[in-house]
Amino acid sequence: MSLNSVALAYLVAAVLFILALKGLSSPVSARRGNLFGMVGMAIAVLTTLTLTSNWIYISLAIVLGGAAGAIVAKRIEMTSMPELVAAMHSLVGLAAVLIAMSAYYNPYAYGIVKYLGAELHLSNRIELFIGTFIGAITFTGSIVAFGKLSGRMGSKPLRFTGQHWVNLALGIVMIGFGIAFSMSPSWTPFLIMTAIALVLGVLLIMPIGGADMPVVVSMLNSYSGWAAAGIGFTLNNNMLIIAGSLVGSSGAILSYIMCKAMNRAFLNVILGGFGGGEGAVAEDSGVQKTYRSGSAEDAAFMMGNADSVIIVPGYGLAVARAQHAINEMSKMLTEKGIKVRYAIHPVAGRMPGHMNVLLAEAEVPYDQVVEMDEINNEFADTDVVLVIGANDVVNPAAKTDPNSPIYGMPILEAHKARTILVVKRSMAAGYAGLDNDLFYLDKTMMVFGDAKKVVEDVIKALGH
Ligand code: TAP
Repeated sequence: MSLNSVALAYLVAAVLFILALKGLSSPVSARRGNLFGMVGMAIAVLTTLTLTSNWIYISLAIVLGGAAGAIVAKRIEMTSMPELVAAMHSLVGLAAVLIAMSAYYNPYAYGIVKYLGAELHLSNRIELFIGTFIGAITFTGSIVAFGKLSGRMGSKPLRFTGQHWVNLALGIVMIGFGIAFSMSPSWTPFLIMTAIALVLGVLLIMPIGGADMPVVVSMLNSYSGWAAAGIGFTLNNNMLIIAGSLVGSSGAILSYIMCKAMNRAFLNVILGGFGGGEGAVAEDSGVQKTYRSGSAEDAAFMMGNADSVIIVPGYGLAVARAQHAINEMSKMLTEKGIKVRYAIHPVAGRMPGHMNVLLAEAEVPYDQVVEMDEINNEFADTDVVLVIGANDVVNPAAKTDPNSPIYGMPILEAHKARTILVVKRSMAAGYAGLDNDLFYLDKTMMVFGDAKKVVEDVIKALGH
């Protein structure tokens, strides 16, 4: 292919990547977005293959890697998606390190220098340094994130005194060796810098609690993009620069949105030591509060006699895999002429878009799925809100209690509805470890049990 045709093909692929990101911003267009991304990647890979004479080895690697990826992705449970993403990012980080090493080893083969044996330019060495250290941190950091999310490592934050200072010192030493490498190319400072970055990846992610990992995964996603973009500059490959920057910036924006929706400062998350992780205990104010509880049949009766029902799904719905049952239940309610909608909080569940993905899997009609900002005005006019496996995202303390750790976090205003049904297994706290006043309102009825079992019982009762 001529250089102009390559540039044109890369441009088309870049536009397709941008359209893919745009498509992924809404469940209605997400499939189309994915398709754009796949076509864009196919064009990018095929075009790159025309630039090399080694296409047989590369094609073999693509077939092997693609097959392994397809098998793993097919087998993975939806609730394990964040750990799969973490594992994939570790490979992106490793790839960046290996490419940087081989580019440094033989820059002529990559077309970085014009003559065999010619030295790398200063700017190339700086790019390699940046790409390598970000890649190395991403590699080991993502392995730790994967370990924590998959339960192979304890999800508790692991800290020691002076950790931040040790990290800072290591960071400074690493940059020192990076500068040394940039000034006079030699393997020793390069390897020391890479080794320190690998250790830093572990030390930076270890102190972060398992439940904060989705933000970390999204942040590592962003890092892996910047590492790829850095290497793209060295290799003079526009596609890698554009794709890397798109991944880098979209990952950074997503991390920011997640932190904002969780009312957490980004720095607090990445410096660790906050977000106590799974198993946080509800605060005990010492005051005995009372709540009402009822059966699935009572819940069926209330919903069956309502004009409008809003369902608030949360993490517990995913754990119970109750999405198909809830869709069946809402179909029955809709057939009775009841207006049913699902209210989606941006951080309901444990990963971005968790609830959208689950509901789409159960083929819930998109027009019933409404985002928080749109539906919040409607709770006051709603007869019944069914909060199912959700907790923090409907905690009114976020609006009313300035001392609450989640004060200021936007919530779904379920407390404004005429009647509230809450399905969960116990009075235990959610992710933030806080008690929830919604459960103690006079108009709230708790329905205890596994979300799927309760919904199946509601379906039976509605059928009678
Ligand atoms: P949570 O506040 O964690 O509440 C989930 C509730 O589901 C729990 O209180 C639990 O109560 C219940 N539950 C668990 N298993 C269940 C089952 N099998 N059947 C019925 N109920 C079950 O979840 P949420 O309301 O979705 O809020 C999400 C939280 O995660 C927020 O605090 C958010 O900041 C945080 N977070 C979200 C993300 C993203 S990106 N989504 C990332 C990191 C952190 P029982 O134990 O009593 O059943």
